[in-house]
Amino acid sequence: MSGTILVDTSFGDCGKGRIIDYMSENYDMIVKYNGGANSGRTVYVNDKKYVFRLVPSGILWPHTICILAQGMVIDPFVLVGELSKLEQEGIQLKDRLFISDLAHVVFPYHQMVDENRENQSSNKLGTTKKGIGPAYEDKVGRRGIRIVDLFTDELEDLMMRADQYWDTQLDRFDLLNKLTDIRFKLKPFIANTSSLINIALKHNQKVLFEGAQGTLLDLDHGTYPYVTSSNTIAGGACTGSGVGPTKINKVLGVTKAYTTRVGKGPFLTEILGDQAEYLRQQGQEYGSVTGRPRRVGWLDLPALKYAIEINGIDALIITKLDVLSGLDEIKICEAYDNQNRLDAKFFPTKNLKAVYSSFIGWKEPLSEVTTWLELPSEARSYVNYIEFVLQVPICAISVGPNRNQMIVLHKEYL
Ligand code: IMP
Repeated sequence: MSGTILVDTSFGDCGKGRIIDYMSENYDMIVKYNGGANSGRTVYVNDKKYVFRLVPSGILWPHTICILAQGMVIDPFVLVGELSKLEQEGIQLKDRLFISDLAHVVFPYHQMVDENRENQSSNKLGTTKKGIGPAYEDKVGRRGIRIVDLFTDELEDLMMRADQYWDTQLDRFDLLNKLTDIRFKLKPFIANTSSLINIALKHNQKVLFEGAQGTLLDLDHGTYPYVTSSNTIAGGACTGSGVGPTKINKVLGVTKAYTTRVGKGPFLTEILGDQAEYLRQQGQEYGSVTGRPRRVGWLDLPALKYAIEINGIDALIITKLDVLSGLDEIKICEAYDNQNRLDAKFFPTKNLKAVYSSFIGWKEPLSEVTTWLELPSEARSYVNYIEFVLQVPICAISVGPNRNQMIVLHKEYL
């Protein structure tokens, strides 16, 4: 039995797609269990760029099976576009990609509602406007349309019911028409995915569960209401894919060497001005789905401790350490206001002030470093300190977007 969950410890965009791609070499099956086309992951293989929206980046390894599980909300138009792009790249999808019949569908009217709310509301959340919130609202409101429903005679009635609720003046006939081709293209990939995952686990195959977005965007545990609409944390892997918790034997967290957030909401270690712009440029911190400039800030240890606790993280992977090269000083948040450093707690509120420690930066570029000892001593001190405070092993550090730009410290976790 070998289920591993990989989650982002922060606000998403920690480079999970790149880590999933790296780890997939040693896994048989990769499962996405939440979210939808709000997530964008960029992966470079031999300097070729791949951008993923719904499909796990593990599909780039020819031996893997990839699953879109029922906890996801799937925009069939985005998915079909992504599948045909992958096929054009020569990636075989048949018998390798499976879509849960029970996943909910994101329709254009969901997107329209999301967009209108974001454009008109005085209290914007900064969503990706991909219809994610309204689709999950339909699911919980028991008026959602699942992938399986696309193939029944009741589809039109179901659409009418949803449209009455949202009142978007939907042209049902046009939408049904457009879905004809989509249905034809998706049909070969639809399956009972929880059964496939459980069979794989029973046969001792290695299954990697990929959480979309990040811990602090979790609907129940994040910076509510500035969150996404699903459970992004490790626990979401079980509900979102139909696998019991006893089948999971490891949880890994991915954390960027600094913090970014796209969208609104509290960000206690946010920095502004020239230093922020420097990090944004060095790290190319622009949303891969929306193109929005990401807010940037220092690493937040109380938030990381919180993420380790609620996900049950066994080991951490640090990404983008190379981006910090060139800074004279690197800060790290130890606590908030007057909290004792050791007892510091993460509170999802903006009315707190970060208390920092300072580290001396390093000038050397790290993109060609492949071993721990080749890292400048200042970079090693920074990583050692994070590990010391968090008391969780750091098992790998990435120093660039390509597969080989990875310093592996504890292979047994990956
Ligand atoms: P939604 O998921 O589009 O409803 O957006 C809710 C919040 O989650 C917004 O702050 C988005 O910017 C954020 N968000 C959604 N998906 C991602 C992601 O993949 N990476 C980072 N932030 C995301």
